[in-house]
Amino acid sequence: MFITFEGIDFCGKSTQVELLKNFLLQKGKKVIVIREPGGTKISERIREILLDKKNEEMQFETEFLLFSASRSQLVREVIAPNLEKGFVVISDRFHDSSTAYQGYGRGLDIQKIKVINSFAIGRFVPNLTFLIDIPVEESIKRKLLKSNDELDRIEISSKKFFNNVRNGYLEIAKEESRFTIIDGTQSIEKIHNQIIDKIILMKGLIDEK
Ligand code: ADP
Ligand code: TYD
Repeated sequence: MFITFEGIDFCGKSTQVELLKNFLLQKGKKVIVIREPGGTKISERIREILLDKKNEEMQFETEFLLFSASRSQLVREVIAPNLEKGFVVISDRFHDSSTAYQGYGRGLDIQKIKVINSFAIGRFVPNLTFLIDIPVEESIKRKLLKSNDELDRIEISSKKFFNNVRNGYLEIAKEESRFTIIDGTQSIEKIHNQIIDKIILMKGLIDEK
């Protein structure tokens, strides 16, 4: 079982990934959590280049290819072998982030993104994807709680960019049945319960008495 979490910055993904991990561990599952970009030695080095605010000259095409390179390493080095060993793999972001951020956000050709995404991930398409949807205004409110030094090269993008990313995610979710859209403005606990409800519906993953 391969589960991914998606959404604009500060939507609450990491919070929910942690809660889901603990829930599955309690149910006796073997779980690994990864986050993108990163998760392998090579992918973490690519992450540094991608998120470094000093890299102002980075072209959108370069940005997309670096995310894809980081991901292709993660798939083959970590995701594939762990799925084979029977782990539930939970990823904080995956290829849909590239379609949303580099495609709908930066304006790169969506069809080309899909072809390269598919090349990078091979047959490792997630079984289940949770899109935690929040308005951009909510993301900005949460971002204001962070200091400027904590923000990376992409988090400092404009409101218009994040609006395009959010709308992009909603478009992708319409096309793919693996998506569940969750209202991210609800309480942390309510969101977690909705995620659990969906997981329980996935027959065979956990035994509910
Ligand atoms: P992401 O991984 O999507 O960037 P985080 O889980 O790190 O998001 O959450 C971003 C910020 O929003 C954190 O300060 C977190 O405490 C807060 N947060 C997370 N979920 C909620 C929620 N449902 N309601 C209000 N604030 C939240
Ligand atoms: P990160 O600090 O991991 O942010 P978050 O907690 O919001 O996931 O930084 C990842 C940033 O990179 C985030 O702004 C989203 C962006 N991103 C892309 O633009 N394309 C991608 O394919 C991925 C995986 C991330």
